[in-house]
Amino acid sequence: MQRFNSFTLIHKALRAMLYDAALTVQQTYFADSNEAETAFEKVETVLHSFDNHAHHEDSHVLPAVELYNKQLVDEFESEHIKDLQLSNSLRNLLNIYRHLNFSEERIACGSAIAKAFVEFMVFNLEHMAKEELKLLPVLWENYTDAQLMAINQKIIANIPQQEMMTSATWMMRGINNSDAIKWMKGVKATAPDFMFQALVATAERELTPSRFATIMSIVEEPVMAV
Ligand SMILES: [Fe+2]
Repeated sequence: MQRFNSFTLIHKALRAMLYDAALTVQQTYFADSNEAETAFEKVETVLHSFDNHAHHEDSHVLPAVELYNKQLVDEFESEHIKDLQLSNSLRNLLNIYRHLNFSEERIACGSAIAKAFVEFMVFNLEHMAKEELKLLPVLWENYTDAQLMAINQKIIANIPQQEMMTSATWMMRGINNSDAIKWMKGVKATAPDFMFQALVATAERELTPSRFATIMSIVEEPVMAV
């Protein structure tokens, strides 16, 4: 049986955000400060989402791993310091750009921002892959799926509604049909109906009509009595 993977949805959402922002950054002509702001808005949303994600993992996931593998947690904590350095240098560059007045300076700073964003993205893609590779086996070995779902629920319960909606949107954009079916069936079975209906609306808005129809035909299948 496939075990519960608490990283799937959120990591796919975060990767989708990274890819989208990276594409916008590389399409931006930085001499134009209005165009640059459109890219910066995405970059800042990415930085904010990764900060929150690191905080959730530090306070809920790593303590669960630490009980069984302290050395591994130390390794991840030092990676979080490196991550913070990368995001701070990106934030500094955005700040510098906003104080520039000449096209050539903006272009030079924009290219430094593009480079720093790629560095941040590569680091985080590797970091997320490493979490899935190294943390999951420890979690699976020492916790049941019900316990892992409970940790996940604790994280979700502390996320403000607006932020949850943004995450759900990016999750929907980043996942495959099988992920969506599992996710929506889970919400349908365990959450109040208005939450399921909100998720259906997100799916309808973010997916192609044909993917939406395929997914809904399975999600809406009546549950067979055993
Ligand atoms: Fe993560």
